[in-house]
Amino acid sequence: MANLTLLILRDNNFLGTLPPEINKIVHMSVLDLSDNEFEGQLPENICLGGLLQKFIVMNNHFTGHIPKSLRNCTSLVRVRLEGNKLTGNITEAFGVYPQLNYMDLSHNYLHGELSWKWGYCHNLTSLRISNNNISGEIPPIFGRMAQLRVLDLSANNLSGKIPRELGSLQLLLDLILNNNGITGNIPHQIGFLSRLEHLNLASNNLSGAIPPQLNLCANLLSLNLSQNKIKRSIPPEIGNAQFLSVLDLSQNLLTGRIPPDLGKLRVLETLNVSHNGLSGSIPHSFADLWALTSVDVSYNDLEGPLPNVKAFKEAPFEAVQHNKGLCGNVAGLQKCNISTMSKKHNQHSGARILIIPVLSFLGFLVLSSFLIVLIIIYCHRRKIIKRERNALTETNDLDFLHILSFDGKILYEQIMEATEGFHSKYYLGEGAYGVVYKADLPTDQTLAVKKNPSSQEDETVDIVPFEREIEALQNIRHRNIVKFYGFCSHAQHCFLVYEFIERGSLRTILNDDDKASEFGWDKRINMVRAIADALSYMHHDCFPPLIHRDLTSTNILLDADFEAHVSDFGTARLLRPDSTNWTATAGTIGYIAPELAYTNIPTEKCDVYSFGVVVLEIIMGKHPGNYVSLDVLDQRLLPPTNWHAQNIISVAALALACLRTNPQLRPTMTQISQELQVQATPVLPFFGVTLEQLCDLDRRNF
Ligand SMILES: *[C@@H]1O[C@H](CO)[C@@H](O)[C@H](O)[C@H]1NC(C)=O
Ligand SMILES: *[C@@H]1O[C@H](CO)[C@@H](O)[C@H](O)[C@H]1NC(C)=O
Ligand SMILES: *[C@@H]1O[C@H](CO)[C@@H](O)[C@H](O)[C@H]1NC(C)=O
Ligand SMILES: *[C@@H]1O[C@H](CO)[C@@H](O)[C@H](O)[C@H]1NC(C)=O
Repeated sequence: MANLTLLILRDNNFLGTLPPEINKIVHMSVLDLSDNEFEGQLPENICLGGLLQKFIVMNNHFTGHIPKSLRNCTSLVRVRLEGNKLTGNITEAFGVYPQLNYMDLSHNYLHGELSWKWGYCHNLTSLRISNNNISGEIPPIFGRMAQLRVLDLSANNLSGKIPRELGSLQLLLDLILNNNGITGNIPHQIGFLSRLEHLNLASNNLSGAIPPQLNLCANLLSLNLSQNKIKRSIPPEIGNAQFLSVLDLSQNLLTGRIPPDLGKLRVLETLNVSHNGLSGSIPHSFADLWALTSVDVSYNDLEGPLPNVKAFKEAPFEAVQHNKGLCGNVAGLQKCNISTMSKKHNQHSGARILIIPVLSFLGFLVLSSFLIVLIIIYCHRRKIIKRERNALTETNDLDFLHILSFDGKILYEQIMEATEGFHSKYYLGEGAYGVVYKADLPTDQTLAVKKNPSSQEDETVDIVPFEREIEALQNIRHRNIVKFYGFCSHAQHCFLVYEFIERGSLRTILNDDDKASEFGWDKRINMVRAIADALSYMHHDCFPPLIHRDLTSTNILLDADFEAHVSDFGTARLLRPDSTNWTATAGTIGYIAPELAYTNIPTEKCDVYSFGVVVLEIIMGKHPGNYVSLDVLDQRLLPPTNWHAQNIISVAALALACLRTNPQLRPTMTQISQELQVQATPVLPFFGVTLEQLCDLDRRNF
């Protein structure tokens, strides 16, 4: 088959070496052999014809070196060779690829050095070469990869310093350089990476101090600097990384006190500062770290009581051992009783000091009885309020307002004021879970507030058990997902607070002839990609994975640049947590996957189905109804040009695959998202394409 251009055998159990005849196929554009048991050499001439876009052979047992024809293969878009046994020196194995988007060489036996040529791959979004034996330094020119989101060079033999030029990678999300031999300071320019989410520099030979500028990485989710030689104290500025959930500074040479500012890390789940020289007591502010689940402060010089928070109270002895004088209720640790405290103080002055703890203990007793009485009165009052539902007079009774990085009470008042108590003139639209209002806050921020109607009916939603879930939603950060700020449940009003998106929903735009004609083919194709990215992120990159459950054209919003933002992620689950038959209430007719007629268990494949419907709606300009025929492309736009036409054909074929009745035959969002990243290769003439041809095409692809 010398003219073969596309061969996809992924996810099978093929064994053995590739037939030598494969070297006669030189016009290949897509070769995907991933996830099989192939061995032997990769095809040497694979890009001789200069057409190769996708070369995907990951997770096999391929040996030998990188095919020579790849070096000048300027057509490359996506290359995945990870998880094989490839060997050889890669210093000069690759060239400059103007269209290259994704490169993964991880988990092989490659050696050599990082080539400066990567710096000229201006469209590269992801470069992973982890778990090899690459040596030498990171070339400063890597700072030029303007589109780079992920740089993972971990577990190699790299030396030299971290180039400060990496601070120019404005879109970088992950910088993973752990397990190398990198030396020098952490350049403060890393602070310029304002989108950075994961920074892992663990197990290197870094020295110097932690740059306080790291606090400028306001989106940081995890920071791992463990097992280095980092000196001086922990900068208090780290406490400003408000989304940080993992902080590992263990096995360094840190000294000084633990800054109380770390108590501001409200979503911190893992804290490891063990094996350092930290002294003083653990700050009281740590009592606010209520998300903390794993903690390790062992092997330091700490003293004083453990903070009164679950993670410390339930910590194993190993997590607090080898300190100067920690006390608390952990087995193996001395109790913080009055006598030990007073014994210590007695050395300085006698009786006065003894009285103070006794007095404060008495004071504590009085105060806590007072509090208990207050709580009883409060609960009683709440019950009455619930029963009578006479909410109007009780505006101060805020049950729960959980809004990250805002002062909840002030925000509640500002929202009420900005919307004049949800007046209809601030109406933005209506979704499955309520009416949306626009709130222009005095702080110049604009928020979208979705008021949940059910709070005024029968039962208020008891959301306390779902705090974690709310938190999960708040921690989601993706450019194509509307940011969820929080949830407020009040005797009178129950509402959700979101980022405000200018242009409103896809449905409104498609329903308006003027707006729809402004929404051209390229914008529409980009929108399909963006939605696929968002869903793929939620299904496969989030933990726990989240299912949307009600994807429709009304909850896809467009900003000023027509960029898509999916809204209402997880809302169905949040608002109707206990309902087993959620299909009755969640999901919108016309978008619900057919299997939900006989099963109550939603899966991500239900979202895939809804996605298929939305995609057809984008192409056709209206909901596809019960049958699909592609002579009904949106007539308000000029017919697509050839390039767009090919893209629309492949997008439509994907949409049809999403609508398959058997959920198992639908592709996953990751497959869809990857498929959409590569520009379509001409496969069918556009005009006169039939539905059967499309179905054939889609069968061939998955
Ligand atoms: C890899 O090749 C480059 C030049 O092609 C050479 O300078 C370098 O020493 C080689 N590295 C190793 C580890 O063999
Ligand atoms: C890695 O490369 C170095 C030379 O750069 C060599 O000494 C070492 O043996 C290699 N390690 C492995 C596991 O191949
Ligand atoms: C780390 O750096 C020190 C000098 O600062 C050097 O003596 C040591 O060998 C280095 N260790 C490793 C594992 O590279
Ligand atoms: C904390 O870090 C140390 C050293 O890096 C490691 O040995 C220990 O297991 C970690 N603690 C926890 C609880 O993971």
